[in-house]
Amino acid sequence: MRIAIIGTGYVGLVAGTCFAESGHDVTCVDLDARKVEVLRRGEIPLYEPGLEELVRRNVAAQRLRFTEHLPEAVSPAQVVFIAVGTPQSERGDADLQHVLVAAEQIGRSLRHYTVIVNKSTVPVGTSDRVRSAVARTTDVAFDVVSNPEFLKEGAALDDFLKPDRVVIGTTSERARKLMGDLYAPFVRTENPILFMDPHSAELTKYAANAMLATRISFMNDMALLCERVGANVDLVRKGMGADRRIGYAFLYPGIGYGGSCFPKDVRALMSTAREAGLELDLLRAVESTNTRQKRCLLGKALKLYGSLADHTFAVWGLAFKPKTDDMREAPSVELIEGLLGKGARVQCHDPVASPVARQYFGDRVAYAPTCYEAAEGADGIFLVTEWNEFRRPDLKRLRALMRRPIIFDGRNVLDPRLARSEGFTYIGIGRD
Ligand code: UDX
Repeated sequence: MRIAIIGTGYVGLVAGTCFAESGHDVTCVDLDARKVEVLRRGEIPLYEPGLEELVRRNVAAQRLRFTEHLPEAVSPAQVVFIAVGTPQSERGDADLQHVLVAAEQIGRSLRHYTVIVNKSTVPVGTSDRVRSAVARTTDVAFDVVSNPEFLKEGAALDDFLKPDRVVIGTTSERARKLMGDLYAPFVRTENPILFMDPHSAELTKYAANAMLATRISFMNDMALLCERVGANVDLVRKGMGADRRIGYAFLYPGIGYGGSCFPKDVRALMSTAREAGLELDLLRAVESTNTRQKRCLLGKALKLYGSLADHTFAVWGLAFKPKTDDMREAPSVELIEGLLGKGARVQCHDPVASPVARQYFGDRVAYAPTCYEAAEGADGIFLVTEWNEFRRPDLKRLRALMRRPIIFDGRNVLDPRLARSEGFTYIGIGRD
């Protein structure tokens, strides 16, 4: 099949590359000429394990191309994916201008029946708006399909190639058949394609992300309660997760969820509900718990040290989660700004996100090449992102490097007993 993908962000690039990998002829479009140039060389403008290799392989095999010219990609295609950004608008809802501009441009380039697939995360009803925008600019027959993407950064290839499910929203039999063929290589009986109407498909994506965010905020509330009543959230989590109706996934307390999806999607879902005359109190609480949680390590530090002025702190991990350099809505940003605001010095280390962090903090923090150098002369370490290299640090070496042996473990990945036996003050989340 000939496929065009509009937008080479996370979703567009991963989808395009994986479709090319399964043998299709894919052209990815991006307005940013520099980005297209970089991609043509087989380099990728983001950090995602395994993706660069797959891009290179498919570019070399001439199954994957990049262009700035949308008509060149769309006119010959049978399927066109819209995978452009839907940033949060000032009102908290999703800003659809990129989606709708793409839809009009696609309409102008259609030469024969084409399935136009919306992969961007968009509010309920966007498929109708895309259909109208395309119809305004063409007389050629087409169908619009909603096909939300559920991939996680850091595990994007696996999630795309072996999805739990594929959701396809369409009422057209012709589009349904084509989408079924396209995704057939990636699905199995236990990982089905779920066909539904477009509105349900659009809502599924938001509902799934909001549910996961709810689990996290719930566990962060439980962690706080554990601290107050002297319980251990690790044990509570295991006891809960063993119930098959609950399961273990996404029950880890921490210092709040971040990233490009959960915070934005929770707000956008509340905004969709508000437009429909509903106030979703639960989601409002999910968000306010998350805001509180992002501040919790700073609060614990203020309690312990009194003043933070003239203190030096190591921050381990800047990305919003491991295996990515993405810092959008990362808890590290809130923590570091808080520390700097209280007059502390910050020495940070992240295996991949330091170049991105420079855009946030410039020279206001020091960037250490290793976690040990970040800890030199420090009055405490904040472990913010659970990269594997932070899980079993050499505590003796750390202790010798630091001014005061104190660790704030924002992800509960260290062994508190071991840390204490090496002379550290250990402060975790919801456990002693
Ligand atoms: C998420 C969804 O998982 C994915 O399906 C969707 O397509 C996009 O949004 P992503 O944002 O890449 O993916 O990251 P994810 O791994 O889901 O983590 C989100 C945030 O939740 C991170 O900040 C992470 O640290 C936090 N988290 C996750 C917890 O605090 N506790 C957990 O138990 C799990």
